[in-house]
Amino acid sequence: MVLSTGINKIRTAVFISGTGSNLKSLIKFSKTNKSPISIVLVISNNSEAKGLDYAKKNNIKKKVLNFGNKKLTENNLISILKKNNIQMICLAGFMKILSKNFLNKFKGKILNIHPSLLPKYKGLDTHKRVLNNKEKYSGCTVHFVNDRLDSGKIIMQKKVKISKKETETSLAKKILTQEHKLYPKAIVKLFSL
Ligand code: GRF
Repeated sequence: MVLSTGINKIRTAVFISGTGSNLKSLIKFSKTNKSPISIVLVISNNSEAKGLDYAKKNNIKKKVLNFGNKKLTENNLISILKKNNIQMICLAGFMKILSKNFLNKFKGKILNIHPSLLPKYKGLDTHKRVLNNKEKYSGCTVHFVNDRLDSGKIIMQKKVKISKKETETSLAKKILTQEHKLYPKAIVKLFSL
């Protein structure tokens, strides 16, 4: 990645839609010495997203954007990101698909976390599909975002074993715990490359 950490940390925006447990873990990580990033902005498409509370608690600027008109919203979003000198974007449970135009503006600077061992199980309902297929393992992946769903270059993965009594809920919980560790690790890896 062609971003230099220098003395100043990488100004990062996190995009969320819901619970925001990955946002919470990224905020915690960003306050450590190990972190090359500083989270300065949280974007949500959902005003009810619980994750917005973490932004508030940590005095991080937040914006809620209703993606009703995608083109207009993305243009607004691009100007918000530019105004805040955002250098990197972490998608964390963000449920909107970003357009090619938007992605081109932040080429190679958008990361995502997905709850499967990509390239397997792209898209939604991953845990259900994994269990239906009687997989022995699943996991999570941090990857770059490109214009194909969950298909950008993989940065890091963590595998988890599926137990005999696994349910969708237990698997989601097991993987989410690993996501909270993997996202910070992948960011450290990215900036030490
Ligand atoms: C995570 O499982 C993430 O991998 C997926 O959406 C979920 C978001 O969880 N993209 P949270 O909002 O970070 O708690």
